[in-house]
Amino acid sequence: MSVGVVIPAAGQGKRMGTKESKQFLSFQDRPILIHTLHIFETHPEVDEIVIAVREDEIGRVRQMVAEAGLKKVTHVVTGGQERQDSVYSGLQVLSSEWVLVHDAVRPFVSHEAITRLLTDVKMHGAAILAVPVKDTVKMVDAAGIVESTPDRKRLWAVQTPQAFRADMLMEAHEQGRKIGAMVTDDAMLVEELGIDVRVVEGEYTNIKLTTPDDLVLAEAIYQMRSKRL
Ligand code: CTP
Ligand code: MG
Repeated sequence: MSVGVVIPAAGQGKRMGTKESKQFLSFQDRPILIHTLHIFETHPEVDEIVIAVREDEIGRVRQMVAEAGLKKVTHVVTGGQERQDSVYSGLQVLSSEWVLVHDAVRPFVSHEAITRLLTDVKMHGAAILAVPVKDTVKMVDAAGIVESTPDRKRLWAVQTPQAFRADMLMEAHEQGRKIGAMVTDDAMLVEELGIDVRVVEGEYTNIKLTTPDDLVLAEAIYQMRSKRL
C-alpha cells in the first residue's frame, strides 16, 4: 500500500508580493519548500515525493533537494498555469497506490495529522484535512449586501494534505480537464465525480503562507513548537 506525495510548488506568490516566490523564501535558514518536504521525508508511511515547479526552477530545486539529503524525492517536474495543472503534472509520474497532495507553502502540518488522514483515506478512498471555522461566515452579493449566514457548525476551512486513491484522483483530474473545471482544491474535482470526501480534523497551525502577515504567524508557530520540544 504505497503512499506518494505531490507537492505543487509552481506558483508565483502574487499575494505575498516578494521578488522571490514564497516557497523559496528562507525561514530558519532553509527555504520554506525544504521545511515542507522534510515533514514527508521523515514520515514513516510516505514512500515517494514528486515536486512540480516552474520550468526555470527545476535545476535549482533539484540542487536544493540534493543538498538537503532528501531521499524520497523521485521527480521534479514542470508545473502548469494553474495549481490544478501542476498537480496533474505530478500525478503523471507518480507510481504509488495512494496520493497525498500538499501545498509547498504549508510547512507546519504535523506527522500526527498526516497519520490520521492516511488511516481515514485507506478506509474511505478520499479524505481531506480541515478545521472548524472560528469566524461567522456570510454570503455577500456583488453590491456588498449580506445575503445569508450559513450555520457555522457545518463550516470547515479546508487545508492540505488531501488524500485519495491515486487512480481516482487521476480520473477526477482528467474529467475536470475535459469540462474545463476551475477549482481551488483537488477534493472539488473528486466531489464532481459524485464520490464522498471525508473530512478529518486538522490543526489550526497548519497555515498556508499566503500574505506577508503569515510570515509573522509562521515565526510564532515555529517558536511555539521549538519550546514544546
Ligand atoms: N501552485 C502551483 N502551480 C500554480 C499555482 C500554484 O504549483 N500554477 C502552488 C503554489 O506554489 C502553492 C500552492 O499551489 O504551493 C497553493 O497556491 P497559492 O497559495 O495560491 O500560491 P500562489 O499561487 O503561488 O500564490 P498567489 O495565488 O498569491 O499568486
Ligand atoms: Mg494561487
